[in-house]
Amino acid sequence: MTNRPAAGQDTRDEVPGADLSRPSIARVYDYVLGGKQHFEVDRRAAQSIFDALPDAPLLARENRHFLRRGVRYLVAEAGIRQILDIGSGLPTEGNVHELAHEVAPDARVVYVDNDPGVLAHGRALLGRDPSTAVITADLRDPDSIFGNDAVGRLIDTGEPYAILLSGIVQHLGDDEDPCGIVATLRDRLPAGGYLLLSHFLDDDEPRAKRLERGFLQGGLGTGRFRTWDELRRFFDGLELVEPGLVYANDWHPDAATPTDSPVHTLCAGAIGRKD
Ligand SMILES: C[S@@+](CC[C@H](N)C(=O)[O-])C[C@H]1O[C@@H](n2cnc3c(N)ncnc32)[C@H](O)[C@@H]1O
Repeated sequence: MTNRPAAGQDTRDEVPGADLSRPSIARVYDYVLGGKQHFEVDRRAAQSIFDALPDAPLLARENRHFLRRGVRYLVAEAGIRQILDIGSGLPTEGNVHELAHEVAPDARVVYVDNDPGVLAHGRALLGRDPSTAVITADLRDPDSIFGNDAVGRLIDTGEPYAILLSGIVQHLGDDEDPCGIVATLRDRLPAGGYLLLSHFLDDDEPRAKRLERGFLQGGLGTGRFRTWDELRRFFDGLELVEPGLVYANDWHPDAATPTDSPVHTLCAGAIGRKD
């Protein structure tokens, strides 16, 4: 079985704002997911990931499936109509606004990423859709997110909204105070607001450390695997939606969720609600 994206795929000739001298997490993730928005520098970096974990594409896909199930829950079951997706990544199959609009055409979504390529591709995808926006801002600077005009226009922060942190906090080093950054976002949520978070899991197996090294060797910076205890702290003060913080595939699995994935124990996720 090969899970690796096919070599020699089409790529875009030009991406406004893209720094092609270095690999980008957004473009490497797109490549690993089988997308088309990547360059040679990204594919070389991805090689370090594949060397460390040949099943990396499964890990990316399963994280993405968790995100989809989570968004459906938030909109269809929790009644959320405003979503701030931080570290949204490049547009791909099943984007958050598309999933949300399947259930609630009036849902509003703001995509946030610090990779300028996301803004360029996102704008091209979204066109003039008035319910959705994409901005360039950094998770480490929440004021730059909440002070942005598009966020002010689309997210009424006095009313319940959801913050999505899917596969992003693992790219913050321990020295960047990930707990403090997530706490700042949690504190901003009003009662009835939700936090969805998925993250690489260190469940005490060697593959986690190998993949951490693969990120560094590929020039992609931090790709941190954190323990259950470390992940639990991201949800401090929130009421966890059943079944709580679990392996990502175990969170509200549906017919498309793998039952025997070889990377089952490498990713965890949860949704918490503020009371
Ligand atoms: C692994 S991708 C996850 C994409 C998507 N959320 C998902 O789960 O499918 C991580 C994304 O986070 C973005 N990112 C990493 N660090 C960030 C930061 N400090 N601020 C904003 N975005 C960041 C990357 O550019 C990338 O697009």
